[in-house]
Amino acid sequence: MEPTAFFVAGRSAHGADEVTVHHPYDCRPVGRTTVATADQVEAAVAAAAEVAATAAALPAYVRAAALDHVSRRLAERAEEVAQLITAENGKPVKWSRAEVSRASSTFRWAAEEARRFSGELQRLDTDPAATGRIALVRRVPKGPVLGITPFNFPLNLVAHKVAPAIAVGAPIIVKPAPATPLSALLLGEILAETELPEGMFSILPLPNERAAELVTDPRLPIVSFTGSGPVGAAIRRSVPDKHVTLELGGNAAVLICQDWAEDEDLTVAAHRIATFANYQAGQSCIAVQRVYVHEWLYDGFLPRLVAAVRELRTGDPTDPLTDVGPLVSEAAARRVEAWVDEAVTAGATIETGGRRDGATYPPTVLSGVPRDAKVHAEEVFGPVLVVDRVVDDDAGFAAVNDSVYGLQAGVFTRRLDVAFAAARTLQVGGVIVGDVPSYRADQMPYGGMKGSGVGREGVRSAMDDYTEPRVTVLTGVRL
Ligand code: SIN
Repeated sequence: MEPTAFFVAGRSAHGADEVTVHHPYDCRPVGRTTVATADQVEAAVAAAAEVAATAAALPAYVRAAALDHVSRRLAERAEEVAQLITAENGKPVKWSRAEVSRASSTFRWAAEEARRFSGELQRLDTDPAATGRIALVRRVPKGPVLGITPFNFPLNLVAHKVAPAIAVGAPIIVKPAPATPLSALLLGEILAETELPEGMFSILPLPNERAAELVTDPRLPIVSFTGSGPVGAAIRRSVPDKHVTLELGGNAAVLICQDWAEDEDLTVAAHRIATFANYQAGQSCIAVQRVYVHEWLYDGFLPRLVAAVRELRTGDPTDPLTDVGPLVSEAAARRVEAWVDEAVTAGATIETGGRRDGATYPPTVLSGVPRDAKVHAEEVFGPVLVVDRVVDDDAGFAAVNDSVYGLQAGVFTRRLDVAFAAARTLQVGGVIVGDVPSYRADQMPYGGMKGSGVGREGVRSAMDDYTEPRVTVLTGVRL
């Protein structure tokens, strides 16, 4: 079988060196592709620069039609795409199906936003000297976008780079994660069915070491990166004059406040936390990692949490009943194992879980974890929860903020004053009241404070990010 093609300026292509993609669960090969050559990278960038003015002038109906087409084709091919995500990423197929459905809606939202993206009219006759003047304030693309995407949502986080770019009329080059290029290439196949002009998109499998050739290229003024903190920081340092958006990691916390006290409330919270600490084996930047419980509720909550975690079914991700599959690689599972071992050596107790099997690490709950242990202080990106008690809600807010990250937080409360106090106090990009932090609607602004990144994604936010205002002042106008 031919290796899967990648896309240079919208046309399918093959590169020089072949790479095999393996199933994280059992290491079997699930697909092959090739690595783009330096000439192909150059062709992609040159084509993006060349088409930028044409792309910016594309009528809204052309951009919206392309986006609607991708949304529809993803829905039509949903099961095939979900199976591919599971094959290359290892996430349970039920979560892959959810990802495909989200990606389809990300493109649909972008089509709707493309139709609405009109700018605004500003009156200037607020000063006698400006009588008869008005301003049209429109947003225009800053230029071609470079999107660098991670393995954990190999389709929808690509969609979050590509769809807003098409919506505003900006060419885009995507470098997918080396472990999971196939979903992005399937998206490329669907994009190639549209009427978008040549050069509008390229999807280039490249090893991470070659990302710098694209990051530093002056013809790509926007870099939108989702991935690890150190890589994001290095990108920002290497191109201080570029517009860089960074969606980095987190060690998301949830707080169970004093008023969330009914037995039924605690059971609901336990199930939500168990599910969203372990979905995709914890490999989501907003997976629950830290749980703070009001001290009066702790003893009633912990056994419920442990029971809910034990109910999760770990195993083959292609089985529709599997809740927790493997991590992306055995190396990733070994790192999680080492971090848990470190915490246990420092005094933590394993309430459940804690024994690795190949690339699979079982859902694990730890208590008594020192604040500086990696499983608490860093992003574990694995199915591990750290539980602790806090004396009151304010102490809970302080505990949530005691992190170098600040992506999203969850607060279980029904009190409006506590909800607003959380929204005011928590140093995060988003607070989810009455649920876990692991909630993202694809139209919502999404991004973090502190070490969790710079800028916001979410269709409309990314469209703003990829564009800048341009003012046209009209004179001699009577309104
Ligand atoms: C992420 O891991 O940052 C993305 C989370 C999501 O899109 O649900």
